[in-house]
Parts: sequence; structure tokens; C-alpha cells
Amino acid sequence: MTTDAFDGRVALVTGAGRGIGRAIALGLASDGAAVALVSRTEAELNAVAAEVRAQGGTALAVAADVGDTDQIRELVSRVTTELGPVEILINNAAVVWPLGPSATIDPADWEQAARINVIGPVTLSLAVLPPMIERGWGRIANVSSGVAANPAAMIGANAYTATKTALEAHTLNLSGELAGTGVTVNVFRPGTVDTAMQGWIRKQDPERIGTALHERFITMQQSGTLITPERSASVLLEHIRGRANGEIWDVS
Ligand SMILES: NC(=O)c1ccc[n+]([C@@H]2O[C@H](COP(=O)([O-])OP(=O)(O)OC[C@H]3O[C@@H](n4cnc5c(N)ncnc54)[C@H](OP(=O)(O)O)[C@@H]3O)[C@@H](O)[C@H]2O)c1
Repeated sequence: MTTDAFDGRVALVTGAGRGIGRAIALGLASDGAAVALVSRTEAELNAVAAEVRAQGGTALAVAADVGDTDQIRELVSRVTTELGPVEILINNAAVVWPLGPSATIDPADWEQAARINVIGPVTLSLAVLPPMIERGWGRIANVSSGVAANPAAMIGANAYTATKTALEAHTLNLSGELAGTGVTVNVFRPGTVDTAMQGWIRKQDPERIGTALHERFITMQQSGTLITPERSASVLLEHIRGRANGEIWDVS
């Protein structure tokens, strides 16, 4: 344990099985938080939980789909029972699909992406807000993307762009409601990070998703500009220790 900034606090991190979410969860655990680790892949969650416990921390691995509101309700109830009320919520899980020209996209896939990227984070926030407000302390960070600042940057990623932009609008609007409560909500744009999500995009057929979009992600890797999940997470961890509310923390 390096510091005790969050000693005894209960944190819930979605998408904690790998990538940026894993690095955030390990960082919060290093700061003393008991972490609830959430994603759909149990084996990845168990591996991260073992890492937390190996450094002396407390971890609870809960497999759940944040695109399913019933599973979110069960998840919050289980974390509250086993660890206590959630005091730090990191809405990090997201999907970048569906990719490709919008005229070729199955609307059901677009809708499911919106459930995972927007409805899930909002539902989780609404579930944990009442006890946070009652106790006068809470931290929520919603992981977005630089694309929200430049919606024309990822042509062929319409659902991703629209959902991240919606998540930011939700966050900044909610922050106004929360002013003075001791509960803060902020946006985190993690930069361009070397994760499975980036690797998945590079593996897609350029003819299907669009050559410009595909090339953009190949170039990001080849130019060596991708940062590590740990470096990205360190920016969020630094900010979330403070009292800022309604900000956009942009790594790039
Ligand atoms: N990597 C980048 O360059 C980059 C840039 C800008 C923004 N971001 C954002 O950063 C965040 C993390 O991305 P990453 O790059 O670390 O991606 P990643 O490596 O693909 O990790 C995503 C995590 O989210 C989980 N997840 C996905 N769908 C889920 C669902 N329906 N329910 C529960 N968990 C789910 C995944 O686990 P399961 O699949 O096992 O559920 C995984 O643990 C995302 O919000 C992403 O949009 C990333």
C-alpha cells in the first residue's frame, strides 16, 4: 500500500477485468479502498482480485453485464451487503462496437451499445447516489473519450461517439445538481491507451468498418503514441482524490 487516501472507502469499478479499469481498480486498492470489480469475464475479475489481495487489499469480484439493469440492481445490492455502500464509482466499462457505415448497422446493436455505454453508467450512478448524498461524500467518474470533443474524428463509430457525448452531457448536468453535497461527478477522457479495445479495432476488416477509421488505429499503434493503462489511470487517480466537480479530465 502506497498511501491511505481512500482508506476504508468502498469503490466499484466497471470493466475492471483488464485495460484501464484494471489499472484504476489496482490504483484505488493501493490507496486503501475496498474494490468491487465488475465485468462479464469472471476469470479476468478473479485474476485482478488476486492481485489486489496479494498487495494486502480487499476485493470482491462480481460478474455482471452493465447493459442489463436487473443485473445492475443485483450488483449494487451485493456490493452494499458484502462491502458497504459504494462511495467511489468508476463507470469505465464500454464497447466500441458497432463499427461501420450507419446504413449497415443493426439498430439492435446500436441500442445495446447505448445500454452498455450510457444507460448502465447512469443506472449505476442513480443507484449509488442516495447513500452518497446522505453521507455527504462520494466520487463518481464517467470514462468517456476524446471523440466527445471532436465527434467527426471517428467516422464509422456513430454509436460510440454519440454514447460518449451523451455520457459527458449527463455528467456535466448532474454535477450542477450535486454542487455543495460533498458528492462529485466528473468526466475522464483516458487518452489513447494500449488495451484490448484498441487491438480489437485493429483486427476488424477495413473494408467493413471503413479504411480511414481502421488506418487511424493502425497508425496510433505504429507511431508509438499509445500510453499504458497504468499511465492513463494515474491521471484519474490523482484527480479523484480532490474535490473537483463537473470537470473533464483529459489525458491527451
Ligand atoms: N483504449 C483507448 O484508447 C480508449 C480511448 C478512449 C476511451 N476509452 C475508454 O476507456 C474505457 C476502458 O476501455 P479499455 O480500452 O480499457 O477497453 P477494454 O480493454 O476492452 O476493457 C473494457 C472492459 O469493460 C468490460 N465490459 C465491456 N462490456 C461490458 C458489459 N456489458 N458489462 C460489464 N463489463 C463490460 C470488459 O470486460 P468484459 O468484456 O469481460 O465484460 C473489460 O473489462 C472505455 O470506456 C473506453 O471507451 C479507451
